[in-house]
Amino acid sequence: KTSFRIAVIPGDGIGKEVMPEGLRVLEAAAERFSLTLEYQTIDWASCDYYEQTGSMMPADWREQLAGCDALYFGAVGWPAKVPDHVSLWGSLLKFRREFDQYINLRPVRLFEGVPCPLANRKPGDIDFLVVRENTEGEYTSLGGRMFEGTEREVVIQESVFSRIGTDRVLRYAFELAAGRARKHLTVATKSNGIAVSMPYWDERAEEMARHYPGVATDRQHIDILTARFVLQPTRFDVVVASNLFGDILSDLGPACAGTIGLAPSANLDPERRFPSLFEPVHGSAPDIYGKGIANPVAMIWSGALMLDFLGRDPALADGTPWLRAHDLILRAIEIVLADGPRTPDLGGDAKTEDVGRAIARLVRTLDID
Ligand code: NAD
Ligand code: IPM
Ligand code: MN
Repeated sequence: KTSFRIAVIPGDGIGKEVMPEGLRVLEAAAERFSLTLEYQTIDWASCDYYEQTGSMMPADWREQLAGCDALYFGAVGWPAKVPDHVSLWGSLLKFRREFDQYINLRPVRLFEGVPCPLANRKPGDIDFLVVRENTEGEYTSLGGRMFEGTEREVVIQESVFSRIGTDRVLRYAFELAAGRARKHLTVATKSNGIAVSMPYWDERAEEMARHYPGVATDRQHIDILTARFVLQPTRFDVVVASNLFGDILSDLGPACAGTIGLAPSANLDPERRFPSLFEPVHGSAPDIYGKGIANPVAMIWSGALMLDFLGRDPALADGTPWLRAHDLILRAIEIVLADGPRTPDLGGDAKTEDVGRAIARLVRTLDID
């Protein structure tokens, strides 16, 4: 294998504004390292498509994505047009489940030059990975309403923690931690209050820890864990959490490191049975859409994560150029954040496109040997 096919799904709102910058940088990297990427642009999985057709995706969406190696995804959601649970369960959450992307890997890093809302923090103080369970847990549509419309109304929402689902995310996180310098894993829990699923999660974590004696494991309840993201961010190396807790930690972490506009994510099927999906952590940001001021770094960094994951595909003859392309994009992001154009979320007045162009220019011109 020498090339990959990418489904490009801009989605809604600023997804449509940051996607062109992500592609601009991917193209610059592809040219520089002679990588072949084929793009398939998808105009569904958006609330506009829903308005026209009454569903988020066409019935043959699987067939349409059949030849794709990865999905490059902007953001979905436009609550003024479509209720969020309808648009997200009809698109993003469907991809995560149907493609069994059970890992949501979300790096958090404080960069040189980025104003940090926490006092006295410098780059290096915040540098960790959130590993979020991505296919089950608190995210379900199981449950229902009883006695609807009466004073006795009751709503039940179920959670699902399977042994396979729990073990595979824990194993991935332990492996990841074992391969890092600090070999430290924080396991998020809430077994004091959530009395069925979380004690089970703790039990499985304890069992998994036995196989990784070299990893220091630190179990923390989610409430104090969020406090420590703010008060002691240096404590963290790899953090593993259930679907909902991981969702919350992956907005809080980037906010502690300046802005959610930088935060990337990789929705992975590590076994590569299905395409993986790469997207910013943030959403469609209706409040700033149309102004051209969204920070494109999260989208661009997500593209770099995609190249890195593709480059590790055993079917590839030589993954090195793909990994080098990832590293170069990261380097270009670091330089632009340190003293390049900045969007308003970082206190600047640059446009989305200015930042995308600056990063792409560096990817084309930086010295690499
Ligand atoms: P959001 O992430 O869209 O926005 C939250 C705040 O952060 C807003 O003030 C926004 O302006 C700001 N922001 C977000 N991304 C930014 C960027 N790149 N640059 C600068 N500022 C940025 O979250 P929300 O307002 O809760 O959700 C809006 C819609 O997006 C909803 O429909 C929601 O369901 C959806 N959503 C989708 C995804 C996704 O597709 N992965 C993720 C989160 C939210
Ligand atoms: C994210 C988003 C999604 C999630 C929403 C849009 C369903 O917030 O990717 O973090 O909760 O997983
Ligand atoms: Mn989220």
